[in-house]
Amino acid sequence: MQKKIVIGIAAAVVLGAVLFVYAGIFNVAADEHHSKPFYALMETVRERSIAVRSRGILVPPLDDSAMISSGGADYNEMCTGCHLRPGIQESELSAAMYPQPPNLSQIRRKDPAQTFWIIKHGIKMSGMPAWGPTHDDQRMWAMVAFLQRLPELTPEQYQILTARTDDDMDDHEEPSNGSKPMPGMEHK
Ligand code: HEC
Repeated sequence: MQKKIVIGIAAAVVLGAVLFVYAGIFNVAADEHHSKPFYALMETVRERSIAVRSRGILVPPLDDSAMISSGGADYNEMCTGCHLRPGIQESELSAAMYPQPPNLSQIRRKDPAQTFWIIKHGIKMSGMPAWGPTHDDQRMWAMVAFLQRLPELTPEQYQILTARTDDDMDDHEEPSNGSKPMPGMEHK
């Protein structure tokens, strides 16, 4: 008898779930936001997932100025549409996406290993792409190095630091000006 009740309840739960999906009750529209408790739950899921998976990643030195500026040039080309830059508060993409991409010229994640993990693997169902399949670790660490500095940059410093130099991406030539400290970016 008890077994029949358990099977009945399980069947009702499965049927309810199937109905929920097929009746289109969940609204996937990006312009209708999650409830606060659901959003908080998803944030916790994301933060725990990132924290656990980035454990044990060894962080290389991130204060080399040539590395920072090559990461800056990549950031400027690939990331600003969503994550903005000093002096730009909003873009069509950043305003329209949900969850909204954080403005990385204002906030910085404390742990560079986590930042690296996010850039390499992306974040499911958020629009944050995984850059690992198309970029090597060195290039992604350069972006991490740049992101450590980004919130301190003025629009002018940003422009200088993200300018692509001819020898960026070219392994056969000695860097000419890529390793020169940029204004405000000298090592302490
Ligand atoms: C199409 C838009 C888009 C592009 C392009 C994009 N991102 Fe993101 N990114 C997102 C979104 C959306 C999130 C927030 C995800 C969330 O809230 O779960 C995010 C989150 C992040 C975070 C985590 C911020 C934090 O501390 O919580 C980092 C770091 C990041 N992106 C770096 C980058 C870098 C570097 C690039 C370029 C190589 C890039 N992103 C390109 C959409 C984008």
